[in-house]
Amino acid sequence: MKPGPVILVVGARPNFMKIAPLYEELKKRNVAQILLHTGQHYDENMSQVFFDDLGMPKPDVYLGVGSGSHARQTANVMVEFEDICLKNNPSMTVVVGDVNSTVACALVSAKLWIPCAHIESGLRSFDRKMPEEINRIITDSIADILFTPSPDADENLRKEGISESRIKRVGNIMIDSLMKNIERSRESTVHKELEILNKEYAVLTLHRPSNVDEKETFVRILSALESVGKEIPIVFPMHPRTKNRIDEFGLNGRISNIPNIVLTGPAGYLDFVALIAGSSMVLTDSGGLQEETTALGIPCLTLRENTERPITVHQGTNKIVGSNTESIISGVEEILSGRKESGQIPELWDGMTAIRIADIIVDEINSQE
Ligand code: UD1
Repeated sequence: MKPGPVILVVGARPNFMKIAPLYEELKKRNVAQILLHTGQHYDENMSQVFFDDLGMPKPDVYLGVGSGSHARQTANVMVEFEDICLKNNPSMTVVVGDVNSTVACALVSAKLWIPCAHIESGLRSFDRKMPEEINRIITDSIADILFTPSPDADENLRKEGISESRIKRVGNIMIDSLMKNIERSRESTVHKELEILNKEYAVLTLHRPSNVDEKETFVRILSALESVGKEIPIVFPMHPRTKNRIDEFGLNGRISNIPNIVLTGPAGYLDFVALIAGSSMVLTDSGGLQEETTALGIPCLTLRENTERPITVHQGTNKIVGSNTESIISGVEEILSGRKESGQIPELWDGMTAIRIADIIVDEINSQE
């Protein structure tokens, strides 16, 4: 009997660049695929623009679940995804990262006995207040194949009692997309549009609930930016969650008065890669950006108390500075004074991760026959 299709799940912005290279590799191997978008992110600039920039086809299935509380969003994905699985009898599902769509689809797969592969497995911040940490722990405990990006991830999984046979270290698939698109990103006109000069600005992204949903923390970060802006222009592409909180907290005036701030909406993939590649530093609370800056050798300050990606600190260009005003300012000063050490690119972050994953998936499907 012919094996059923592989369902590739995407839901939120950081998922798209992790699925695009795998979709390509599976296509080359003539594997039947269903590209499924849960609709967790739905705005054009949080979703469609990434499909265009990454050359991904329109999703075969769009669940349109939209925003909601964690329970509602996760439950809505589960209900819809179960129907799709029952209808299509997939040979495998593939989930990526740590968003609500990831855990929802992994749970459905496990209950239906559909083999599930998790890409970007094993990362742990050890901070259960982060919704993503809960998603990671649950997904890894029930997925069948755990594709990890780094040795620390393997170690975390072993400590949780996961058998060696489920752990496959393949490297970082997001770096495949980065390497594939870095040349194309040079055609972006974003620097001209924002009137910024190469290597003369910092990029800032903020969207973690722990930073933007709590006014006190948000204001501490703003105080740091008021000082940093005097030293270097700050480009701030704003996530919708952050924009909502700024409106709610009445912080619009304060944000636009930060010296040399360049405010803009969420950027597309190619524009964003152009922005970070041309920056002299990145300030962020994103997970993926810690990895992209390490791969590009751009200094990164992480505005969080911890990271699930310690390799970016030990080997790469990342430094954890938290949300304390003074630590952010001194982190920036260190970079501006040239005191920050340059990093190295971790093993297997080589642009070939999707090939390794596709080979394993094909072997797995063939072994089911
Ligand atoms: C989600 C992920 C987070 C990831 C981030 C990347 C979870 C638990 N969180 O967080 O891990 O780092 O995506 O962006 O899955 N909104 C829009 N338009 C959209 C999407 C969201 O306006 O297209 C607004 C809505 O007001 C929504 C809010 O943003 O309520 C938050 O969206 P949600 O998907 O719940 O979480 P993110 O903060 O985006």
